[in-house]
Amino acid sequence: MITRREAGAGLLSAAVFAGTSAQAASEAIIMQLPAPQTSGGMPLMQALKLRHSTREYADRPLPLRVLSDLLWAAFGVNRPSGDRTAPYWRHIMVIDVYAAMVDGVWFYDPKAHLLRKHLSVDIRAATGQQDFVGSAPLNLVYVAHGERMHDVPPEGRRLYASVDTGFIGQNVYLFCASEGLASVFRGAVEYKKLEKVMQLEGEQFVTFAQTVGYPKS
Ligand SMILES: Cc1cc2nc3c(=O)[nH]c(=O)nc-3n(C[C@H](O)[C@H](O)[C@H](O)COP(=O)(O)O)c2cc1C
Repeated sequence: MITRREAGAGLLSAAVFAGTSAQAASEAIIMQLPAPQTSGGMPLMQALKLRHSTREYADRPLPLRVLSDLLWAAFGVNRPSGDRTAPYWRHIMVIDVYAAMVDGVWFYDPKAHLLRKHLSVDIRAATGQQDFVGSAPLNLVYVAHGERMHDVPPEGRRLYASVDTGFIGQNVYLFCASEGLASVFRGAVEYKKLEKVMQLEGEQFVTFAQTVGYPKS
């Protein structure tokens, strides 16, 4: 099993470039994402009209371009300052977005706009208690860094981290609505178990998860 720390230490490195499916990157440590398409798309009011939760998914994988645009829409960098597509508490970056897919768990690095391999195991089924989570192509897991919220008691940490996550989740919902994708934001997560499975360190904790895929036709 390859951890993010090992990847960061450069024990192995490989890159997968645009044009392949996300699953083709299963042996890579870094998954290069194509530059996000940040213009065009569906008008906002139309996307709001279409937004809804879905609990039945096709097992079709997401193309890399779609994954790239989705992650940028979720919590990508949208200004030279490094700030993001979603607002966040006290200008302190608390939330990380992980992508659990068939080939493992990937950490989204918004600055470099790429995915770093965190674990080489398929943990999708452990990201929730509903049957579709194990077969949908992507489960986003939102992880908070508790240690960055210095003077805040545990309940406060969960509150602010949850609000930050909610904004990201809505970005994902709207992107999915505009792209004909399906999604559901999820709180039915066995947090402690998932935190262990994900090998989270220190005061990191899971806030929510969100499934993304194509709707079952
Ligand atoms: C904080 C939160 C937690 C949620 N947890 C779950 C969940 O665990 N499982 C699920 O199927 N839907 C979950 N949902 C989705 C809601 O059930 C859904 O948004 C609601 O039923 C309204 O349906 P709509 O999203 O289609 O408008 C959650 C939504 C929110 C905001």
